[in-house]
Amino acid sequence: MVKKQKIIIDCDPGHDDAINIMLAGSSDKLDVLGITVVAGNQTIEKTVKNALRVCQYLDLSYPVYAGCPQPMIRARQMIADDIHGETGLDGPVFPELTRNAEDIHAVLFLIDTIMKSEGDIIITPTGPLTNIAMAMRLEPKIVPKIKRIVLMGGSYQMGNVTPAAEFNIIADADAAHVVFSSGVPLTMCGLDVTRKVLCFPEIVDRMRKIGNKAASLFADLMTYFNKSQKEVFGWDGGPLHDPVTVASILEPELLKIKPMYTEIDIRGLGSYGRTNCDYFGYSKRTPNVDVAIDIDVEKFWDTIGAGIKAYSA
Ligand code: RIB
Ligand code: CA
Repeated sequence: MVKKQKIIIDCDPGHDDAINIMLAGSSDKLDVLGITVVAGNQTIEKTVKNALRVCQYLDLSYPVYAGCPQPMIRARQMIADDIHGETGLDGPVFPELTRNAEDIHAVLFLIDTIMKSEGDIIITPTGPLTNIAMAMRLEPKIVPKIKRIVLMGGSYQMGNVTPAAEFNIIADADAAHVVFSSGVPLTMCGLDVTRKVLCFPEIVDRMRKIGNKAASLFADLMTYFNKSQKEVFGWDGGPLHDPVTVASILEPELLKIKPMYTEIDIRGLGSYGRTNCDYFGYSKRTPNVDVAIDIDVEKFWDTIGAGIKAYSA
């Protein structure tokens, strides 16, 4: 019997976060210990409700934990309502929400679960890194007990919020600095690869034709997401950012990785929030991040399709 990989999903649903939860829920290779939620694409109240809505719709019994409502230090909490809408998950119509989040704070769940573990948990953050950084600061002993962090965020090339910075990083650059400098084994699934998995209309049609609940959720989510990505960035298909994290755990050959010394710009003006990745090793600093530099696009969409098909209803 192959041992399931334990994961904790930390997210800010968000259309692509929702599909990442769907993908994780489809696989018997994963043991999802819980979903921790952070403010990001929308306020914490909305991102928590969205995580609960997705789990309820897909009949996933994962515990959902509400986390940090704003960045560690900076007062301004950014949202991405231009992409994800007023609810943070505009598009699909969900049934009345009957699920509730757990009582304990996400940061305390992370600390308690990691401290009790055998050091075998992968964390997959797909939002700002506030919860993860706060857990590291509150209980530094968790750092050596985290098997790996596989995150969506950053870019060794262009940003999306500014020319330099990607949303999950700039939304709480101080938290990103804590995580990237922690020494935890870290895989960065940045815009460099997520912008290669553009969900063109023919992909939406391919997935909708699978014909189950998960297929209709995917199609409704991505129809809205594509519309806003077209309006804001001009993409003919929205980059399906967050599921690259879970897909890379399910398919270890999915990504081409290059270890790089990476630090977060937390002092810059124009480049504040940039993941400064030393691609050529010019600094001679020891690489601290496995940066994804390419992705098998066909394998990615096949993984998404297989995940959707795995839902019976
Ligand atoms: O920059 C893209 C990332 O920011 C994705 O995780 C999206 O959901 C938003 O959180
Ligand atoms: Ca996200």
